Parts: sequence; structure tokens; C-alpha cells
Amino acid sequence: MVWGAKYQLEKLFNESLKITFPEELDVDPAIAPCQNPKLGDYQCNNAMGLWAKVKGKGTQFRGPQQIGQAIIESLPKSDVIESLSIAGPGFVNVKLSNHWIAESIHKMLVHGIEIWAPKLPVKRALVDFSSPNIAKEMHVGHLRSTIIGDTLARMLEYSNVEVLRRNHVGDWGTLFGMLIEYLFEKVHYSKVNDLTIGDLETFYKASNLRYYSDPVFEEKAQQAVVSLQTGDKRYLDAWSHICEISRKEFEKVYQRLGVDLEEKGESYYNPFIPLALEQLRGKGLIKKDKKGADAIFIEEKKSSLTVVKSNGGYNYASTDLTALWYRLNVEKAEWILYVTDVGQSEHFEKFLTVGKQAGWYSDEDKRYPKVSHVIFGLVLGEDGKKLRTRSSETVKLVDLLDEAKSRCKAALIERGKHNEWTAEELEKTAEAVGYGAVKYYELKNNRTTNYTFNYDQMLSDKVWCNTAVNLVYAHARICSIIEKSGKDIEKLNKTGKLDLINSHERMLGLHVAQFPEAVEEVWKNLLPNVLCEYLYKLTECFNKFYTDCQVIRSAEEESRLLLCEATAVVMRQCFYLLGITPVYKL
Ligand code: ARG
Repeated sequence: MVWGAKYQLEKLFNESLKITFPEELDVDPAIAPCQNPKLGDYQCNNAMGLWAKVKGKGTQFRGPQQIGQAIIESLPKSDVIESLSIAGPGFVNVKLSNHWIAESIHKMLVHGIEIWAPKLPVKRALVDFSSPNIAKEMHVGHLRSTIIGDTLARMLEYSNVEVLRRNHVGDWGTLFGMLIEYLFEKVHYSKVNDLTIGDLETFYKASNLRYYSDPVFEEKAQQAVVSLQTGDKRYLDAWSHICEISRKEFEKVYQRLGVDLEEKGESYYNPFIPLALEQLRGKGLIKKDKKGADAIFIEEKKSSLTVVKSNGGYNYASTDLTALWYRLNVEKAEWILYVTDVGQSEHFEKFLTVGKQAGWYSDEDKRYPKVSHVIFGLVLGEDGKKLRTRSSETVKLVDLLDEAKSRCKAALIERGKHNEWTAEELEKTAEAVGYGAVKYYELKNNRTTNYTFNYDQMLSDKVWCNTAVNLVYAHARICSIIEKSGKDIEKLNKTGKLDLINSHERMLGLHVAQFPEAVEEVWKNLLPNVLCEYLYKLTECFNKFYTDCQVIRSAEEESRLLLCEATAVVMRQCFYLLGITPVYKL
């Protein structure tokens, strides 16, 4: 069952359009929030388009206004609508019934917010996100992927979709040849166990330099790749140790962020590569290029994609093609979402086009399986350049989270919370607010754009600032209002009556009831910032309501408490979807 008002209106207007224009069966109802909220809550925008279609073709209508009127007249009776009016050239304005809004909120309170979950036409999806590279530290770009990917996965899960949360770590290729060879030179292989992630970074950089300046080393490193790929135990052991060291480090970050991921790195697909390439060969897609490499020509891009290098080695593209094949055919994912920076667009466009050429999937609208490349921009420093530390290193994720947490803790101590709370409460709140702020600062931006990293903006508690700090505190404030009332809210949810009488109550109620639409809107363009905007506006509506309406010991106490509770429930669901931990007291 879908409860959203927009959905209900679409159904009603659809019926009316079919009656008014039986010959225009392909016209979908165009319902949008009303441009002028004084005139209504929603508007139906079909009249003008229909007029353009039927004008001069012997129609009984004399203009869009009249069409609007006819649409109103054919609208089935419904308790969703309070009143209807026509504005300008045939826009039909709809005011929802207060009773219906209150009723739908009340149903949500009784049955849980799950009843507001959207229906998606897939049962299983795969989100490829985070995906850092072994032997390197996770950087702020991986933070974007981790946070955006986790939110999309949470939103899919909320919609009852089974999600394979895939960490496609970079754990294969030439890099490991040079790294292991260098390690064997510097440390005895039995000591590889004792290395730290910092050592690995240093060795990685040094081995990289050697590789490009010392031909003898280059040769040895390439040989090492072969040893690794053919399963030489010494090399394989060193490789697993290196992976394990990195894995532990990544895990620390995921644990702090509360992000769940299942690793199937590049190496996982290695044994399947010949199988996937065989499929492409069978379709006549693979040809030898001038350099003797196996490549796939991509006509619409006037370019080609190398899948087997001239020395017989595989590459990033062969792995991604194989992973795509595996995910569609073995894991049976109906929707695959890849969350990476925009810099990888060309690679993705190429191998995904090959997947289509092979007939593995199609990107026709509404056809499944479907594949989406969810891109994001750069994180910039105050200087407008890619975020770096003072020593010009890329910023480490762990440091960034530590900093956010410690700044929040300092702010709480300044407000004297260390005297009121236990040390554990202080720690937990600083964590919830600090990490929540990092995530929200990331998610509130349209992911396709670059954004500038700034701790002060991210952690500000100034009332006008759109930060997680303010949102989390707003939620805590609502909880304390409910607590102060001394009422058993669970009981009230079931027995109390919700009325939306004055304008602030109505505005808040309407916005609460629009939660399902905000979630649906996110799916249109895979933009989590739409949910952040919704959440921010929800707090604004709540603040207006609370300034204007007394809750405790007012004549409307019960009803208003229910409205507070509904706001808190929706806020918590938004937090959950955004991966933010709520706080219950201030
Ligand atoms: N390891 C890559 C990087 O750090 C991201 C991998 C993204 N996923 C994929 N299937 N290619 O840039």
C-alpha cells in the first residue's frame, strides 16, 4: 500500500483524464507541489499540454481553462481532497483534506514507518561502493563513495530490496608485483606480518619510484606478478598479509561509520575472466589491435577497450567486465549501482557499453536488469584545490573523523555536559554528532558537484545552519518535550486523536506526510541530497510549529504530542537512511 498524497492524487487524476480524454490514453497525470502554497498543496499541470494536443482538431473545448474544469468535474469523489480550484491557463489546484493528512500520519504511527516505504520493481540490487585500494590509505574520495553508497543501500533496504553491499577493493595487478618484490628486498618475507599500513604506504611509494627508474627492478616486478598469478606460495602469502593489514585498517573506518560491506575484491573475479571473455569472443566482439592486445571496438564512442594486454595480462577493464557478468548471471542482481568519482566515467562508459553490446543488459527505460553509474565530484580544500593536509598529503579518513569527534566533544564540554553526563554518554554523543556531521555535510550536497571541506561549517550549531548538529539536537528537543509531558507515547499513538487545526500544525503535518514522496524523489536521479533538504525543511516546520503552538498543558496537548512524535519518527527514519545516529537528550 502506498500512502503518499501525490500517489493518491495521481491515481484520481489518472481516472479523470481517461474519462475526459478517452482518446489520449498515453497521457500521464502531471502532479506537482503547488507553486503558490496559498492556493493549494498540489497542482495538476495537464490542461495546457492537452490543449496543445487537441486544439484545432474539432475539440469541444475552447481553451485550457475549460479542460481544467472538465478534469475537475470528472474527478472521482475522494476523502483525500478538501477543495479544488483553477488558476491561470488551466492549472488545477488541490487542497488536501486536513482529516486525510491526520489520518495518514496516524496510520503511520500505529503501523510503523515501513508502511511509507516506496515499492521498487526489483528484488535484489548490488551496490559497488567504497572500494579502496589495498596498500594505500583510504582517502576523502573513498569517504564520499562510502557514505553515498551506504545511504543508497539503506534506502534500497528500506524499500524491501535485498542489497549486496559490495566492496570492490583494488587488490590485484602490477602494483602488487612491484610492492612484493620491493618488500622482499627490504624485509625478509617472514617479517611481512609485522608491517603496518604506514609501512605499506611508504613501501608502495618507494617501489613505484623504483619501478619507473630501474629497468632491472621493472623486469623483476613483472615476473613477481606472474609468480603471484600462477600461485607461487611465497608471493601469495605475502599478498594475503598485505591485504589483511589493509583490510584491518579499512574495517576500523567502516566500524566508526557504521557501514556494512562485503568484500569481493578485484582478485575474486580473476578465475572468471576467461569465462566472461569467452562470452564476448563468442559474440565476435574481441579483436586483436595493432599492438597485439585483445580489444573491443566501441563504435558509438569511436574508441576501444583493451581486455587482454599484449603480454597476456588482464587489466581493470577485464576485471570490471567480468564482475558485471558475474553480478548479473551468478548473483542475479537486477540493479547494479556503482558509486565512484566522476574521474572514472570514461572507464565506466566503455565497459558498460560493452556489456550492452554483449546483450547482458539494456539501458532502456524501465527495463531490468539495469545498471547505474552514480558519480560524485571532488572534495576541495579552502584553497579550491583537491583536499590535502598541510604537508600536502591526501587527508586521511581516520584523522578527519577524529577531528570531527573531538571538536564536538569540546563543544559539549563547553556547554557543561561533562558535569551532567557520564563519560560514556559524552563520548557516544560526540561520536554520533561528529560522524553524523561528516556524513550529512557530504550528503546534503548534490553529489555530482565538488564541495569545499570546512569543519566550522560542518559542525556549526548556529540556528540558521543546515548541519547535522542542529538536526540531531532538534530531534533531541522533540524527545524531551514528549518526555516532559509525562505521557505514555506508545499508548497515545494508538488511542490519541490527531487534529491539524491551525496553519502551523497543518504545515508540519503536511510535510510529515510528504516523507514517502521525498524518498521517491531520491530514486528519480539517485540524489540523497533531496532527502537532506526534506529533513531540513521538516525541522524548520517543526520550529515554526513549536514557536507558535504550546504543546504541554495546552487544550490540544494530546494531538500536538502526536504531531511531535510523528515528526520525531520521520526524523529518525531520515537519520537512519542517511546513516546518522540520533541523540535522545540534550
Ligand atoms: N578501487 C577503485 C578506486 O579506488 C574504485 C573501484 C570502483 N568499482 C569498480 N567496480 N571499478 O578508485
